[in-house]
Amino acid sequence: MSERIFSGIQPTGRKHLGNYIGAITQYVAGQDRGEAIYCVVDLHAISVPYDASALQSSVYDVAAVLLAAGLDPERCLFFRQSDVQEHTELTWLLSSVTAYGDLTRMHQFKEKSASQRELVSAALLYYPVLMAADVLAYRAREVPVGDDQRQHVELMRDIAERFNARFGETLVVPEHRIPEVGARIMDLQMPERKMSTTGGTPQGTVLVLDAPNTVLKKFRSAVTDSGTEVRRAPDKPGVSNLIEILSAVTRRTPEAVEAEFDGSGYGAFKTAVGEAVIEYLTPVRERYHELRSDEAELERMFALGADKARAIAGETLADVRTAMGFRAVRAGQ
Ligand code: TYM
Repeated sequence: MSERIFSGIQPTGRKHLGNYIGAITQYVAGQDRGEAIYCVVDLHAISVPYDASALQSSVYDVAAVLLAAGLDPERCLFFRQSDVQEHTELTWLLSSVTAYGDLTRMHQFKEKSASQRELVSAALLYYPVLMAADVLAYRAREVPVGDDQRQHVELMRDIAERFNARFGETLVVPEHRIPEVGARIMDLQMPERKMSTTGGTPQGTVLVLDAPNTVLKKFRSAVTDSGTEVRRAPDKPGVSNLIEILSAVTRRTPEAVEAEFDGSGYGAFKTAVGEAVIEYLTPVRERYHELRSDEAELERMFALGADKARAIAGETLADVRTAMGFRAVRAGQ
């Protein structure tokens, strides 16, 4: 059997170049490599304050970006997390083999809980258990993600291993797939921080749907460093990030990019990166608008995906329930 691949993406915040290079391109490639399953994780979105009336619209936004990028529901299973209740039930069951201390040590929990002004919800602490349930429900072996999700994938491995040790071989222990180039795209204004719609700067965050002149402006004003050489170095985080971006969007090695721009100066280099990113994102932006306008079609696609997802997740859940001493089938079924 070919490898089963699973990944999820949040419907919060508008998707940016980091999401695109670090994760979305890997989702598209996964369709040719194995049995690919992708999910818009709307249940994760409620772990921080959110606008309930805008949630569905954000789910459609993200779905249209993924389809525009090349996800093809004929070649992958694509669904909305909240349509498949097995995820929430499995979260509770897995919480019995999840160490509370591990959850409090997650970088994302520490960062996000420190930045909450009002309620730090238990959902924020539980976030990685739901994420483990997402992957383990499908017995996926490979999880394509950016570098910031490394720790969460490690935790889901621990959960699966602990479950198997305690209740017998039931779950597949997954592995992350983190790209060599572009796993951690940094903010253009603060290159020591990762690009993010919540933790970065608006001017330093390039959105997938930004107009071309906006993209160019953001790259032209990108922070570089003193010096003039286009080369990667620990004390040149701004230039290193731009090299990585250009390398990812033109599918060349970082060394080839450094060789091409050797001696050309930062101004010309920044403009060249901006232009390459525009060329890279333009087809996606154009297809997006067409796909986003047909919500009925997006709903039809989600309904088909949910049926297929339930069939797989339901089987795993029955095995998990049995292994844990419950009746395999839930009441009412
Ligand atoms: P989310 O929606 O925040 O991000 C989606 C993907 O984008 C990657 N990413 C980046 N890659 C490179 N550079 C960046 N600056 C950058 N910022 C984000 C993320 O690593 C991610 O792969 N917890 C997940 C969603 C999730 C999930 C799952 C993922 C829920 N269940 C199961 C895999 C498997 C998240 O917050 O993604």
